[in-house]
Amino acid sequence: MDPQEARRILDEERERGLSMIASADSSEALDAAKVGVLGRKSRFSQVQRALGSFDPEDRKRLGMAANELREALQSALDERSRALAGAEQARLLEGDRIDVTLPGRRLRTGSLHPLTIVEDEMVGIFTRMGYRVEEGPEIEDDWHNFEALNIPPDHPARTMKDSLYVEIPGFLLRTETSAVQIRTMESQDPPVYIVAPGRTYRREAVDATHLSVFHQVEGLAVDEGISFADLKGTLETFARALFGPDRRVRMNPDYFPFVEPGCQVAVSCFKCDGTGCAVCGNGWIELLGAGMVHPKVLENCGIDAERYTGFAFGIGVERVAMVRHGVSDMRMFVEGDVRFLQQFQGAGA
Ligand code: PHE
Repeated sequence: MDPQEARRILDEERERGLSMIASADSSEALDAAKVGVLGRKSRFSQVQRALGSFDPEDRKRLGMAANELREALQSALDERSRALAGAEQARLLEGDRIDVTLPGRRLRTGSLHPLTIVEDEMVGIFTRMGYRVEEGPEIEDDWHNFEALNIPPDHPARTMKDSLYVEIPGFLLRTETSAVQIRTMESQDPPVYIVAPGRTYRREAVDATHLSVFHQVEGLAVDEGISFADLKGTLETFARALFGPDRRVRMNPDYFPFVEPGCQVAVSCFKCDGTGCAVCGNGWIELLGAGMVHPKVLENCGIDAERYTGFAFGIGVERVAMVRHGVSDMRMFVEGDVRFLQQFQGAGA
């Protein structure tokens, strides 16, 4: 290489180097450009190595030119490096960017089951009247579920058709919360004022108005001088608390072995006030069975039936929830469809 060629190479390398550096679009590309323009195998380094063979005049001149070019390239590299780092930083920030003005993601919160809401409401009405809450086992024995309730061994309610038996002889899934009446009267002396909410089981074909697992709220009052009028007044108070102050209560004779007399109780419809509509049909909504505790039941529990009288009632929770919320099919309560259950968000509690 002669000085002239060296000069040309330096000129070319300036142009080629600056454009390589300018077009490096990543720090890797920039590293490669640096090796290409200033590395040991670069044409620039070849010029530097050739300087020693030039005469002093050329060596000095070209040496200065080479130094000047190295500085120019180095500062272009530094500048490009800073620019790339800045761009990289900006890209990372952009990726991490949070738009604080976006609406938040709503957390799904659970809600009480509609049957729980209605059951709590019913129980609350009675506890505010001074009743206490009692509970009993869902697996019951023959005595509490039948015998003590004056349901004789040949009563149709006992057959396999209506009851769900468990494998332990003499036990079954309770068919009504009335069993809790017995447990309460066996363990407590009058006066007794209790409500017993809970699950009950029957061997039923499931359809829009029947479930084989359902809920009742049982009530029992035993005291001196309790009359049928007390029963009616209590149920009226309940119906008005639940369905509004204008409700009337209708009692039709009915038979339950553990009460005498017994009745089927209906409430005048809260929608049409008794004229008949889609909610009630004929103006009355049948809600419960009730009656005066049969003296035999009192005696079965060791209570003096000469001194004490009582009334009892059993209310279907599903039935109340259906009329209350306009639910036409009882099965919706047990299907677990969130779209159904969600609608009760905010109710109760
Ligand atoms: N246990 C009865 C039923 O399941 C309801 C009832 C309770 C009737 C108390 C009278 C007294 O249908």
